Amino acid sequence: MIDFDIARAWHKIFALHIEFVIDGIEKTNLNPQLVCDDMVCHLGRWIFGPGERYAHRAEYADLLEAHIRFHYAASAVLEARQAGITESQLDSFRAASDAVLATIDALASTAGARPPSARRETAARKQKRDHKPSRQESMQIGIKLIDEQHSELLKWIEKLNGQPTAEITSKSVADSISAVQRLETLHFETEEIFMQRIGLPPEQMAEHVAAHGRLLDQLAQVELDARNGICNTAAEAHRAIKDQVLCHIVQYDVPLSRHIADPQ
Ligand SMILES: [Fe+2]
Ligand SMILES: [Fe+2]
Repeated sequence: MIDFDIARAWHKIFALHIEFVIDGIEKTNLNPQLVCDDMVCHLGRWIFGPGERYAHRAEYADLLEAHIRFHYAASAVLEARQAGITESQLDSFRAASDAVLATIDALASTAGARPPSARRETAARKQKRDHKPSRQESMQIGIKLIDEQHSELLKWIEKLNGQPTAEITSKSVADSISAVQRLETLHFETEEIFMQRIGLPPEQMAEHVAAHGRLLDQLAQVELDARNGICNTAAEAHRAIKDQVLCHIVQYDVPLSRHIADPQ
């Protein structure tokens, strides 16, 4: 069911952001007091927005509670960050995050699946189809979650461009490449779930999944080239990674918009 997949993916990306901050990869100053608020993330807004249609179910209450606990755990690890986070604090945070995913699964399994007739063309979608897109718009798929993941991914790739002469082995460059790699992994997982749910023909699905594998291999190659002195600066890594990702979005992801109607 697509909206549960979206809820899951929103949660995973938020949890990954917290991990980025904890690891020091993301420099954003996330305020622990704000993170305590369970409406600060997309999943929270889904729970109290479209997700409310399941409010009569016990699993909805479980999700709501697990989600509040997760935000407290996230806030606690951010708070503890200055003093140094212990393994048990990190374990509690990850367990709270997993509990949210488990309650989403439980709610999804009792809520029943919606058939893929979500492909109905809405007036807004027709207008979008008829509209001649700008270059940036032409990279959009029309699924908010996937489009935001793409721009997040491209934002991290651009960070390499912001430090063009930095040695590829420097910590800041290695951190950016690590962030790109973790985001790519999560994003590919999201897209592959979507492709399964919309019933993409198996050969198209296999081709797309193989292309994701090649992108991950390419990142590993960039790291290998860095170690072997073939690729020395952030600018070289930036060019290599960005070209491949943009080509992939245009060649493989944008055509998905023909198959998917955004359920949000
Ligand atoms: Fe893709
Ligand atoms: Fe993608």
